[in-house]
Amino acid sequence: MVSYKELGFSNTKKMFKIALEREFAIPGYNINNLEQLQAIIIGCGESESPVIIQISQGARVYANQTMLRYLGQGGVEMAKENGYSIPIALHLDHGNSFELAKSCIDSGFSSVMFDGSHLEYEENIAITRKVVEYAHERDVTVEAELGVLAGIEEHVKSDVHEYTDPDQVEDFVTRTECDSLAIAIGTSHGAYKFKVEKVDDIPELRFDILQEVRKRLGKFPIVLHGSSSVLKEYVSIINQYGGNLEKAFGIPEEQLRKATQYGVSKINIDTDGRLVFTAIIRKILAENPKEFDPRKYLGPARQELIEMIKRKNDIVLGSAGQAKYIK
Ligand code: G3H
Ligand code: 13P
Ligand code: ZN
Repeated sequence: MVSYKELGFSNTKKMFKIALEREFAIPGYNINNLEQLQAIIIGCGESESPVIIQISQGARVYANQTMLRYLGQGGVEMAKENGYSIPIALHLDHGNSFELAKSCIDSGFSSVMFDGSHLEYEENIAITRKVVEYAHERDVTVEAELGVLAGIEEHVKSDVHEYTDPDQVEDFVTRTECDSLAIAIGTSHGAYKFKVEKVDDIPELRFDILQEVRKRLGKFPIVLHGSSSVLKEYVSIINQYGGNLEKAFGIPEEQLRKATQYGVSKINIDTDGRLVFTAIIRKILAENPKEFDPRKYLGPARQELIEMIKRKNDIVLGSAGQAKYIK
């Protein structure tokens, strides 16, 4: 057993407090490998942004849970070595059981999500509450979820889109004592978020629901999952170099920026990073058919991801330059 404090991670308490005060969102970036982690540390370090490094169950299976924890710890050390002074949380993304959350807490995570959004309301409350009790005794923060996101991620499946009911949020937060709440207002996981033909047809997020939730909860951290914008420049590169991602659309950046003004304090981004990596690797391999050194394509993909992260932190999340307020 190891506490995240010994590893140099931060929980999300102070991050969210400042994010709410200053109306920006903390980025929740997912990792599965070394290069993604390096890009997140460098991108957030250079833009002086706090960051939540997210590890999904799929990532645990892909990269090995122990490996990922040490990778996260390596990220903290690398940040120090590079002279970055940013708070870094290590977070379980979409945990589906108390046992999984406990195992992450015991191995050094500073934050965990229990996603009981598919469960019946009372069962969601009961398990979230159990996770919160275990976590809070160890000063670990807990994200919970109410309302179901549509999506096609491997471990995050749902065909239905059930918006969060604002009438439930106060009762849910009071009874679970969770530290942040993910809500469903029209975002979804993956690269195909809307069944539309063109960008102009993308519907607005349900800001009415967000505002109602805000009214009920006051200044409480709200989380938006499924918030990649499915950046069209990378979709185009992928399609140009042999890929086939048709009608892939995401959440317009202006809408995400607007959401931070209504209490959205964490924005989750995974798909956009995946698109960047795939686009650069496809392009380099197509243009250099003799290349077989992974550093020659993973290195540029990492660099492009660094640029994407810096840009998002700056103009979408507003988290750039905010690390100094979180001490
Ligand atoms: O919320 C889902 C994340 O994008 C993680 O996806 O389960 O494929 O690792 P994954
Ligand atoms: P995207 O698929 O939109 O990147 O969402 C990621 C996410 O919500 C991780 O929990
Ligand atoms: Zn998610």
